[in-house]
Amino acid sequence: MRTAEIRQRWLDYFESNGHAVVPSASLISPDPSLLFTVAGMVPFIPYMTGEQQPPWSRATSVQKCIRTPDIEEVGKTTRHGTFFQMNGNFSFGDYFKEGAITYAWDLVTGAESEGKYGFDPDDVWVTVYQDDDEAFQLWREIAGLPEERIQRRGMKDNFWSTGQPGPAGPCSEIYIDRGKDFGLDGGPVVDEDRYIEIWNLVFMQFQRGAGEKENFPILGELRQKNIDTGLGLERVAYLKQGVANMYEIDEVIPVIRKAEELSGRAYGANQTDDVWMRVVADHVRSSLMLIGDGVVPGNEGRGYVLRRLFRRSLRAMRLLGVDDSVMPELLTTSRDAMSPSYPELATDFDRISGIAYTEEDAFRRTLANGTVILDTAVAKAKSAGSKSLPGKDVFQLHDTYGFPFDLTLEMAAEQGLSIDEAGFRALMQEQKDRARADAKAKKGGHADTAVYQDLLTHGATHFRGYDELQASAQVVAIIKDGVTVPAARVGETVELVLDETPFYAESGGQDADTGTIRGQHGTLNVIDVQKPVKDLIVHTVTIEEGEIAQGDPVAAEVDVINRRDASRAHSATHLIHAAIHETLGKNANQAGSYNKPGYMRLDFSWTQPVSHETRQDIEGIANRTIRENLPVTTTVMALDEAKALGAMALFGEKYGDRVRVVEIGGPFSRELCAGTHVGSSSEIGLVSVTGEGSVGSGARRIEALVGADAFKHLAAERAIVSELSSSLKTQPGELVGRVESLVSRLAATEKKLAAFEEQAALRAAETLAAGATVISGVKAVVAVADGASGDTLRTLVLDVRARLGEGEPVVVALFNAGDRPSVVIATNGAARDKGFAAGDLVKTASQILGGGGGGKADVAQGGGTDVTKVPDAVAAIEAALAGRG
Ligand code: SER
Repeated sequence: MRTAEIRQRWLDYFESNGHAVVPSASLISPDPSLLFTVAGMVPFIPYMTGEQQPPWSRATSVQKCIRTPDIEEVGKTTRHGTFFQMNGNFSFGDYFKEGAITYAWDLVTGAESEGKYGFDPDDVWVTVYQDDDEAFQLWREIAGLPEERIQRRGMKDNFWSTGQPGPAGPCSEIYIDRGKDFGLDGGPVVDEDRYIEIWNLVFMQFQRGAGEKENFPILGELRQKNIDTGLGLERVAYLKQGVANMYEIDEVIPVIRKAEELSGRAYGANQTDDVWMRVVADHVRSSLMLIGDGVVPGNEGRGYVLRRLFRRSLRAMRLLGVDDSVMPELLTTSRDAMSPSYPELATDFDRISGIAYTEEDAFRRTLANGTVILDTAVAKAKSAGSKSLPGKDVFQLHDTYGFPFDLTLEMAAEQGLSIDEAGFRALMQEQKDRARADAKAKKGGHADTAVYQDLLTHGATHFRGYDELQASAQVVAIIKDGVTVPAARVGETVELVLDETPFYAESGGQDADTGTIRGQHGTLNVIDVQKPVKDLIVHTVTIEEGEIAQGDPVAAEVDVINRRDASRAHSATHLIHAAIHETLGKNANQAGSYNKPGYMRLDFSWTQPVSHETRQDIEGIANRTIRENLPVTTTVMALDEAKALGAMALFGEKYGDRVRVVEIGGPFSRELCAGTHVGSSSEIGLVSVTGEGSVGSGARRIEALVGADAFKHLAAERAIVSELSSSLKTQPGELVGRVESLVSRLAATEKKLAAFEEQAALRAAETLAAGATVISGVKAVVAVADGASGDTLRTLVLDVRARLGEGEPVVVALFNAGDRPSVVIATNGAARDKGFAAGDLVKTASQILGGGGGGKADVAQGGGTDVTKVPDAVAAIEAALAGRG
C-alpha cells in the first residue's frame, strides 16, 4: 500500500464519519510557544483550550511535522525521522474515549477491501495510562483484546502534551507486533523495536502548566473533553510495504537509490554506509519540506535547525565519498517523491532549489577551508596530549570559516576529541558584546541624517514584524560611515535598509530585535535596529559570510526567542504601569521606560519613596493579572477614539491621527503603543520587582525581571536563603530573627571588647611612666601607645602625667598609629613655666602627620592621615624638647 493511499484511506474514513478534512498547516508552528509544528494537534490548540470556537466539532488532517530532539538516532533505528506526517482525527467536545477507540480499532483492523488498513487483530497491542481503568475496559469491550495485551504505563509514556503549557491528557497507544524475529516477547513495555507504535490516542481534558519533562502541574480541566490522535504515516507505510524501516518506504527510498548511484556504493552492503544513506534521505526530505514552508538557512532558531539538517546531509554524502555538488540530484529526487502529496513543491521548486543550491555552495566552500584548519587544530591538540579541542579553535572555525558548532563537535568526535564548549560559548558572547558596543557607539555618531532623509524619498520601510518574524525583502541601500555604498563584504559592519522588514527598531522603550538576514551570496547578523529618521528602519549588520549588494533579494529572520522575551518584557511594563496607577493613583504617570528580553524598568512621576508594602502590592497586581491570563489585543483607531477609551498616552509624545492601542484585559491596561506584545498575559510568566529608587527630582524608577529571568532571580535568592539557613543552622522562616540576634550579639561583644582594650591600654600607664627619659631637664614620655585611641589615649596621657608628679617639668606625648594617626600631649605647670605648651607641640606633630590640631597649653590633641610619618613626628617632639632645654 503506497503512502499516498494510506493517507487517502485515512481522510476518506474520517470524512465519511462526519469529520471536516482540514489541510496540513505550515511546518512553521502557528502556536507561538513552539518553533515547529510537532504534532497534528498543534493548529487546533486554541479549539482545545476553548480560546476559540471551533468551526466544526470533528476534524481530520494529515499534518507535516518536524521533530529534531532525536536527530542522532536518525538512520540508526527503524523509526526516527526528523520530518514525518501525522494522520489525526480530532473531537472538540464531541466524542471521547469510546468513540476514539471504536474508530481506531475499526480502521486498523478493518479489511483492506473496505478501505481500511487490514492489520491482523492478533498483532495489536495497546497501552493505557496507569490508572485509566475506563480506557482499559473499553479496549476489552470494543476490541475484545485480552488483558495481557493491554499494558499500563506511567506519566512518561502515556500522558501527552506538546512539552509546553497548554492542553494535555492521558493517552492510549496502539502497537503492531512484528513477530518473534524482531525482538523479545512481552509487549511494548519490553521492546519497542519489535512492537512498533503506530497510533496515539490522546484524551485531552487538562490544562498543564510550565515544567520540564514529566514535572509540570495540572492547572485544571479544559472547558470540554477533546480527542487528539496521531498515527505515524511513515510507520504504517513501512509495515504495510513490508520494508525494514521508515527510510525504505516509497516516499523516501528514491533518495537512498540516488545516493547509491552518486557514491557508487550499495545500500545494504555495510552498516555504516547504510546509516549515512538514511541520514541523507531523511535530512534532504526535511530540508525540502522546511524550505518549501518558507524557512531559510540561518544561524538561529528555525534557520539553524534547517542549516544543521542540510549540512549534515551534505557531510554524510562526503563520508560516502562524494565531494561534488549533490543537491541538484538529491533534492529533485525528493521533490518527485513528495510532490504527488504536496504539489506546491513542484510549482515552487525554483525558489526552493535556489535557496538549497546557494546553501550547498556556501557549505562546500566552508568545508574546503575549514577541514584543513580543523585537522591542524586536532593534530595540535593531540600532540599536546589533550583530549579536547580548545574553545578558541572552535570559535575560530566558527567565526572565520563558518563551521557550525555541531559540525566541529561531530568531526572532532570522529577523531576521538571532545570540545571545550564553555570556552567557545564565552568567546561567542564576547564577540556579541563587542559588536553591540560598537553599534551603540556608532549610533549617535551620524548626527547628519541627510543620507537617511534621502533614502526616505524612495519610500518608508514597511514594518511587517507584528505578524511575521520572517520576510522576503530587497536591499534598498547599504550605508557605510554615513554614505551609501553599492556592496559590502564578509567581516564588515554596515547599515542596511530594506523595502520591508520584520525587525523591530528600538523605540517606545523596547530594545531592538536581533536575528539574521540572508541573501543569495551572504549571511548577515543583525546586531541593532534603529529609526534614525521617522519611518526608516535601519539595520546594523555584520557580514558573517559572503557579501551583500544593493538590490539583492534577501530573507530576513528575527531571532524568535529573543523577540518573544522582549514582548514579554514590554507587556510586563504595561502591567506594572497599570499596577502603579491602581496603587498610587492616576498622577503617577509614566515618564520613560526601557525593556529588553528578561528586564524592564519604568520611570514615573512621584515625589516620595514608595513604601515596601506598596512595592509588594504593585508586584502582586502584576502577577495576579498574569495568572488571570488576560487577552492582549491591539487595535488601530482614531486618536480621539483612543482618548475617549481612556488609553494612557505619553505626555509630550507626538501621535498621528491613527494610533495603535494595546489593551491587556480591556480597561485594566490600555496604552497607545507601537511595541510588540504577548498574545495573553500568562505568557509573561512572572514579574519580580528588583528595585525602586529616585531618578532625579520628582521621578522614581521601578525595575523588574521578567519571565525566565525573574524565575532565575528568585531561584538564586532561594538558594542563598537555603545556604544561609544551613550555615546558621536554622529554618528559613527563622532566618531574620536569627540574623537580628547575631547582629545584636556582635554589637554587644564589640562593645565589651572595646572596654577590655581600654582597660589593657590604661594598664600600660605604669610602664610608660617608668620609661620616662629626661631630655634637657624635662621628664618626657614620647611614645606610641598600642590599642589606645580617642578618649582612651587622652585618659592615658593624663594618667601618665599624674604619675610623673608636679616637681620637675613633665611632657607626655602619646601617639596612636592607626589608619588615621592621632596624638595627645599634656604638660605640667613646671614644663609650661619652661615654655612648653601642649598646643604648640601638637601642631608640630600634626603637621608632620599631614593633618592639623592644637589646643590649650596643658592638654591638646591632633592627628593626621599618614601613619608612616609617626616615627618622624615622635622624633620632632623629642627634638623640640631638646632644643628648648
Ligand atoms: N498529539 C499526539 C502525539 O503527537 C497525538 O496526536 O503523539
